[in-house]
Amino acid sequence: MKRCIPISQPSITDLEVAYVTDAVKSGWVSSQGDYIKKFERNFAEYCGTRYALSTASGTTALHLALVSYGIGSGDEVIVPDLTFVATANVVTYVNAKPVFVDVDPKTLCIDPDHVERAITAKTKAIIAVHLYGHPAAMNVLRTLAQQYNLYLIEDAAEAHGAIHNGQRAGNLGDCAAFSFYGNKLITSGEGGMLTTNDEGFYRRAKYLRDHAMSPQRRYWHTEVGYNYRITNLQAALGVAQLERIDDFLVKKQNIFERYRSHLEDISNLRLNFVEQGSKSSYWMVCLQVDDYSEKQRDQLMTFLKKRGIDSRPYFYPLSALPMYADSAVHTPIAHTAAAQGINLPSYFDMSDADIDYICQTLVRYFVPTKLTIALPTSPLAEEVLVAG
Ligand SMILES: Cc1ncc(COP(=O)(O)O)c(C=O)c1O
Repeated sequence: MKRCIPISQPSITDLEVAYVTDAVKSGWVSSQGDYIKKFERNFAEYCGTRYALSTASGTTALHLALVSYGIGSGDEVIVPDLTFVATANVVTYVNAKPVFVDVDPKTLCIDPDHVERAITAKTKAIIAVHLYGHPAAMNVLRTLAQQYNLYLIEDAAEAHGAIHNGQRAGNLGDCAAFSFYGNKLITSGEGGMLTTNDEGFYRRAKYLRDHAMSPQRRYWHTEVGYNYRITNLQAALGVAQLERIDDFLVKKQNIFERYRSHLEDISNLRLNFVEQGSKSSYWMVCLQVDDYSEKQRDQLMTFLKKRGIDSRPYFYPLSALPMYADSAVHTPIAHTAAAQGINLPSYFDMSDADIDYICQTLVRYFVPTKLTIALPTSPLAEEVLVAG
């Protein structure tokens, strides 16, 4: 089969195999066990927070946060329009209303000016997404949240290890939700984590995560809770991955720098922008093409695919999705970025040669005159040439 360079793939070494094997052999295969405790302890330490609570996924971590804060029917939660759908869906799960606001054109994260304009008497929280690994403008958002008495929740699903003004993601709001899905910087297969410094919130979230069972009276449940727990097997994988997180972050940055060195001179291309005082986790390499339409973006992805390079489009603006289409918001930046942007492959075992190949392919597409042999500019014509 023809090789295709994937967008992402996990790095599994003997360390992960050893820990998972140990967990399986211990018999603690479900949601109790030493690896869970260790994963939570080590993750809290890594983020610099007092508490970390493991969950079944990033989505369940976010949902648990909203339920624990008592957000529900009649409430509004401000979310960026450009994000993965789970950010808004969890608001819908609790019967509150997601209020979509536009993003910053450079960082693609929620724009605090738009947040302030969207605040009403019903607003209870802001969910700030660190999109593609870049921290949202948390300092400004924290001031806003304090001023209007709102919860500030970090959706840090994509931003393990990212830094904003000297603090790690996870320690920048009232609480933060992480994902350990297989394409994330570190993975536990499926899994998530809630981090916080608030003891009351932590205890409440833990209680609700475990079916809201009374700690004093077994099988006595005082309200409707959830089973949002991670397993010891997943946590074992997570513990091993967390031990390697510094290497993953360095590699992601190096990959990005290599892309940049090849592509930064092409005037209509925009790569990840990093705000001063911030450090991105570079979860995804972002490539945005100025003035592109969605159709042109799709043609570019097809061109790459035919040459063995996987890519993915940016998220669609959530307000454009059928279930949120009646939200009637004006978010031109999110719409423009969504139509113009793709993510390129970046993963731990990726070789320099693969990055160089991808960049050469892109140069060939965007600047055919740069090549010594003239190539047709039309991707379709080029397909014929290649096929011939
Ligand atoms: C921004 C964002 N929020 C939430 C999630 C949900 O995480 P999970 O897939 O672990 O439920 C993701 C996952 O991809 C995400 O990218």
